[in-house]
Amino acid sequence: MQTIQVHTKSRPGAVFCGQGAAEQAELLRDKTLFVLTDSNVYRLYKEYIAEKFAGAAVCVVPAGERHKNRTTLFKILDAMLDAKLNRNAWLVAFGGGVIGDMGGLAASLYMRGVHVVQVPTTLLAQVDSSVGGKTAIDYRGVKNVIGAFYQPEYVICDPVFLRTLPKRELKCGLGEIIKTGALDAQIYEKLCNGQRQFFDFSFLEEITADCVRFKAHVVEEDECERNGLRKCLNMGHTTGHALELFYGRRSHGEYVLIGMDFESYIAEEEGICPHGYAKELRALISAVAGKIPHFDGIGEAAKAALYDKKNEKRGEISMIVPEAKGKFAELKLPAQKYIDLLEQINGGRV
Ligand code: NAD
Ligand code: GLY
Repeated sequence: MQTIQVHTKSRPGAVFCGQGAAEQAELLRDKTLFVLTDSNVYRLYKEYIAEKFAGAAVCVVPAGERHKNRTTLFKILDAMLDAKLNRNAWLVAFGGGVIGDMGGLAASLYMRGVHVVQVPTTLLAQVDSSVGGKTAIDYRGVKNVIGAFYQPEYVICDPVFLRTLPKRELKCGLGEIIKTGALDAQIYEKLCNGQRQFFDFSFLEEITADCVRFKAHVVEEDECERNGLRKCLNMGHTTGHALELFYGRRSHGEYVLIGMDFESYIAEEEGICPHGYAKELRALISAVAGKIPHFDGIGEAAKAALYDKKNEKRGEISMIVPEAKGKFAELKLPAQKYIDLLEQINGGRV
């Protein structure tokens, strides 16, 4: 196990990463705990939670992105009030990114802030969402539109939880890993050389620590996405989020991969990314996501990108695109041009 410090200005934290990290739950002994989890995770880890977080109030919410909304958020806040928590309480978000995002937001709101610990149980949450303090719910068809930056004190990233994860969810995590690889040349090389090991737990443990270290660095530089660097973590997300909210059939990580695929073509078309590198990146994407499908009505779906948080001007869509190994650029396109390009790329697929 290794400890990766995240030196954020608002509240520094530590990420415990690797086998044995779960033992760090000991740090919470004697604290007032409120464990938030979802119905799937609770079914698998009910006894584990009772043993490791003895005496904690436990709140179980329905699993899935469609429950990442204000109704569930207020159920969580009600349960916190019912448990008579005070400001010294610790909320333990035990689950995937949905639980982490909602748990973090509830912790930031309750009494204007209680302590929060992330225990990510999906690969996606371990490599990305549990680190960096972005919390949110979806609202009125817009992803993560209500939220706060609220840093966890501890993140406990133990690969033991991945043993119960369906392969499809591992693929979602690999989506954010490939995104990180497109931002960091060393991680990219490891991914290109390690394609056959993508589902090996030892490979995943090593690459998880690499991704966490990379994200910690970005978040330390630009905690609240104000100087621009943190925007890079949104590569593939402009199109990914738009398709996720419009179609909703797949998971976040799958849409990130699909979004990266579309946006790599756009980067090529706009003369930002050379064909050779874009093609190599797409091969990495399809090693995990398979063939990217045709989307009926993509022009309508693309309009959701108008609400992307990176956009600065009305009618203009911002996206982070690959430029070269370990290099990225921000591309801003008039909305209609973006829609036309998506339709053109999509039209070439059957
Ligand atoms: P998720 O939380 O819905 O988990 C995916 C599925 O796996 C769920 O059905 C869950 O019940 C199940 N599950 C969780 N742990 C399990 C385990 N150990 N064994 C078996 N099943 C398990 O989704 P996710 O992919 O973890 O996260 C996606 C969410 O994260 C999205 O809402 C996305 O917006 C958010 N996100 C946030 C950030 C951030 O910086 N805050 C970054 C990336 C993604
Ligand atoms: N996943 C985007 C971010 O943390 O900024």
